[in-house]
Parts: sequence; structure tokens; C-alpha cells
Amino acid sequence: ASSPPDILSPAFAADPYGAYRAMRERAPLIHHEPTGSYLVSRYEDVERVFKDRAQEFTTENYDWQLEPVHGRTILQLSGREHAVRRALVAPAFRGADLQEKFLPVIERNARELIDAFRHTGETDLVEAFATRFPVLVIADMLGLDRADHQRFHGWYTDVIAFLGNLAGDPAVMAAGERTRQEFAEYMIPVIQRRREEPGDDLLSALCAAEVDGVRMSDEDIKAFCSLLLAAGGETTDKAIASVFANLLAHPEQLAAVRRDRSLVDRAFAETLRYTPPVHMIMRQTAGEVELSGGTVPAGATVTCLIGSANRDEARYADPDRFDLFRDDLTSTTAFSAAADHLAFALGRHFCVGALLARAEVETGVNQLLDAMPDLRLADGFQPVEEGVFTRGPASLPVRFTPAAG
Ligand code: HEM
Repeated sequence: ASSPPDILSPAFAADPYGAYRAMRERAPLIHHEPTGSYLVSRYEDVERVFKDRAQEFTTENYDWQLEPVHGRTILQLSGREHAVRRALVAPAFRGADLQEKFLPVIERNARELIDAFRHTGETDLVEAFATRFPVLVIADMLGLDRADHQRFHGWYTDVIAFLGNLAGDPAVMAAGERTRQEFAEYMIPVIQRRREEPGDDLLSALCAAEVDGVRMSDEDIKAFCSLLLAAGGETTDKAIASVFANLLAHPEQLAAVRRDRSLVDRAFAETLRYTPPVHMIMRQTAGEVELSGGTVPAGATVTCLIGSANRDEARYADPDRFDLFRDDLTSTTAFSAAADHLAFALGRHFCVGALLARAEVETGVNQLLDAMPDLRLADGFQPVEEGVFTRGPASLPVRFTPAAG
């Protein structure tokens, strides 16, 4: 047998999918020395860790990953504390609020970004759209001054750099701490003003939320907003870029989506399975746990390889084929109940923003297709994915007939 692939090597970063397959087949549980964690690659195991029916796993590992830049977020909470926090924040991300208040915000931000390049005939969809759109939507949903949106985008860039700083570069760590401080100095007074003069925005909803007599402190709300930069920004950014990378690589499926826009939803779901924005999620074991391939000791870190689980041949037929028509992918219309790919995780921490992400991707993809009827990649360009924990196309230079007028 060959030695376990190193998830921190350049070869893995260039193409993790072959290594994932080897792990699923030959070593579904690997103790990975450099990260000191156990790699879990099969669908059934990752699903079991996420669902955690027997309460065998905690999210304590997030204390050292997220605390320095965000403070204490919902992802670090467990048990009743988590359930209450979840009930406080979740209503804003589904149902009437999403449809009535935030759909117009999503549509407006997509339109403004597209208007900036639709007359030019060329753009980089990653730089000009994907990395901007979800962050601007969050800033706008929170009701922040439009003049401050660029600063918000700057904090986003710093947070992403901090979370992706696997090598522990001290300059990036210092920048992360500075960001935490600047973000708090900006957000806390805004939150306090909103408590006095509530509006129709997400921040006011978070200030007013109350469950069993519990409300969120200014610090709780600030930490949640900070988390949204990464949880709601970088993920949706990569999802939109990957939808286009996948469709552009499969022109017949792109043509089908153009003709029948109800397929955008399936293109999104299949993209989340085939090229998920988040490839790795970690958990801590409370006690000893049995998984395929062996026993994990108590107090160990388990790394769930979502990018591998989503291509498990035991779960999906021909898993390395991008096919939005595949019949073993549950339609995403019953989203929160059972998105069967694991891109949004499952169980208690299932992505609170899944419906918002879907609304953003649907709006963004539809508006982009409308604005660029003959969208194609720049001549000879081959998209390259980058990132190991989060992953998506590094750039997507495209050409199209410029809009008239
Ligand atoms: C949780 C993925 C979009 C907010 C999660 C988790 C994943 C995920 C994998 C679980 C983390 C864990 O269990 O450790 C994604 C993907 C997205 C997306 C792939 C886009 C396609 C969003 C958006 C928002 C959001 C748009 C909000 C603006 C959150 C929050 C949590 C979360 C707050 C924590 C939930 C909890 O701890 O109970 N997301 N997400 N996400 N997501 Fe998303």
C-alpha cells in the first residue's frame, strides 16, 4: 500500500480528488501527523460525524480556530446554549424575512455589480462578481451605510487570509487581531444605535430577537456578524464561481440551464456535491469513537473531508462526473430537510444560511446569464481550483458580446 497522501502538500492542493479516492478505498481513517488530526473520507462516516446522534463530537476545536479573529461564535457553542442561539438567529435567514426584506437587496447588489462590466465584453467573474457579491449582500442586509461597504469588504479579505493562514505567518496573524479590533470598534456603536433606533434590517432583527427570555449581547451580535464574513461570504463566493466553472466546462448543460432556468437550482446542488466550497470541517471527539477503518481516541480532532464524501462511489453513481440531471441527488427544493450532499454539513450546525445562499446563487446566476447571452471562457483558458480547506476557481476570465446602450 502507498503512504497516506499529505493534505498539506502542493500535489494535494493541485488535485485532491485522486487522493480522496485512494483514502476512501484503502485508508478511510488516517492519522495525519502534521495537523494532528484523523482524516475521515467516506460518506457514511462524515454523515455520522455531522449528524452526531450519540453526541460523540464537540466543536471545541473552533475555540482556537475562530476565537482570535471572531470572538465566541455560534459554531463554538453546544447543547442548550447552541440551540437557543440558533433559534435567535435562524428566523432571519428563512421564510418571510428572506423573501420580502432581503430578496430585493440580493437583486440590487447583483445588478449593480453586473452593470459595472456588462458593456465591456470581458471580465473575471471571480474578481468582478463572486468575491464581491455575497459580502456586499451581507453588509446591505445588516443595514450598514453604503459608504462603509468597501471597508466591510476589506475586513472580509483579512478574515479569509487569517483563516487560511495554515503556515501561521505572524504578519497575517497580527492583521487578523487588528481586524478583530477594528471590526469591534466599528460594529459595537452601530449595534448600540440600532437598539435605540431599530430599522427593517438584519441587525435590528438580531437586536430584537428573544428566545426563552434570552437575548444576544452587543458582543454576541458582533461575533455573529464577523462569522458571517467567512461563513456567508467566502462560501457563497466560491459556490457561484464553481457553478460557472462547471457549466462552462459542460456547454450542453450550460445550454440546458439557459433554456430552462428552473435548472439553476439543480446546477447549484450538483456544484455543491461535485466541487463543494468547504472541503474540510473539524470536530473533537468527546470519548473513543469507532469509524470505518478503526478507533479514534477521546479528545482527538477529526477532519471530515466533505470533498471526498460527496464523491463517494458508495453513495453516488459515477461520482467524478458533473451531471445536474443525475437522479441520485435530491432536488434542493426541500433544502433544509435533506440536501443529501454534505456541503452544508448536517445536524445541529447545518448551515443556517443555506436558503440565503441558494437565493443569492439563483439571483446571481440568472442575472449573469441574462447579461451575457454568449458567455464563454477567454480563449485557451483552463480554470484552476485553489485552496485546501475552502476551494474554488482562482479566476474565470470570460468573454461575451457587450450589452448595448
Ligand atoms: C454553518 C457551508 C452559506 C452562515 C455552515 C457549515 C457549513 C456551511 C459546512 C457547518 C459548519 C460546521 O458544522 O462546523 C456553507 C456553504 C455556503 C454557506 C457551502 C454557500 C454555498 C452561508 C451563508 C450564511 C451562512 C450565506 C449566512 C449569511 C452560516 C452559519 C453557520 C453555518 C451562521 C453556523 C451554524 C451553527 O453553528 O449552528 N455553513 N455555508 N452560510 N453557515 Fe454556512
